[in-house]
Amino acid sequence: MSNSSAARTNLTSNSVRIHTNDIIGEGAFRIAYAGTYIGGNRNNQEAVCKCFKSQYRGLESDFFRSDFQTADKAIQYAEEWNRFCANEETILITRGDVCTLGGRKYLVEPLIRYFTKFTSNNGWITDEEGWCGRYKYNKYNNNKSRFELTDVAVCSRRCSYGPTDLGEKGIDSFFHNHVCNQFCHVDGRWQRSRYTNQWFPKSSSTSMMRSSQAHLLNLRNQSTFRSGFGGILEENSDDDDY
Ligand SMILES: Nc1ncnc2c1ncn2[C@@H]1O[C@H](COP(=O)(O)OP(=O)(O)O)[C@@H](O)[C@H]1O
Ligand SMILES: [Mg+2]
Ligand SMILES: [Zn+2]
Repeated sequence: MSNSSAARTNLTSNSVRIHTNDIIGEGAFRIAYAGTYIGGNRNNQEAVCKCFKSQYRGLESDFFRSDFQTADKAIQYAEEWNRFCANEETILITRGDVCTLGGRKYLVEPLIRYFTKFTSNNGWITDEEGWCGRYKYNKYNNNKSRFELTDVAVCSRRCSYGPTDLGEKGIDSFFHNHVCNQFCHVDGRWQRSRYTNQWFPKSSSTSMMRSSQAHLLNLRNQSTFRSGFGGILEENSDDDDY
């Protein structure tokens, strides 16, 4: 992966100090703490260290089992994109590291300044202002900076990428909200179905699901989902009323 155009350089730091009293942000499932890399080529650089909230620790092993696989798949897509995009549109993806502290696993990644959310795995997509704001800023300032993506999710038909892989219904929900633009169909390969649905509550926060529920993400299954206790996706039991 070392000569990849899309993978952010690997960290050689030995460890990270996690500042558990300094919360940077919070998703539905995890808390993101500030941290500092110790040693190596990132010595003293700021980090973000994410761990599952205690009520969602059940998702931890599922998540960490597939996390690098997910990042590597996204890096592969980004490399394809980087081959034809303009310089200021280059995408760089953080692979992250796993660090265990006090029996808990943390996903450690470099802090991104001016963090913006563009999309999430449940179909939520930011409005055009959000999307283009950063891009225009880069272009206007002739900035060498690139788009850095972190903590990516991949939706696949077979749900192969862990609890953030929302399967066919994740793909369908994305297209339900996606408006084609000049970047689509560049090589004529994009497929999209004509009839789409928003299967999940739309949220800028990443949605997750237990692997035992993966069969519900097949498009042949009609269940829609609601946020259950604290955010985990649950089958919508009101479905019969429709
Ligand atoms: N690498 C990062 N750099 C800066 N801020 C971050 C980074 N990763 C996460 N954050 C912040 O922490 C919040 C929680 O992140 P996360 O746990 O990944 O949840 P979610 O993906 O649901 O937003 C994000 O919404 C963002 O505000
Ligand atoms: Mg995230
Ligand atoms: Zn499109």
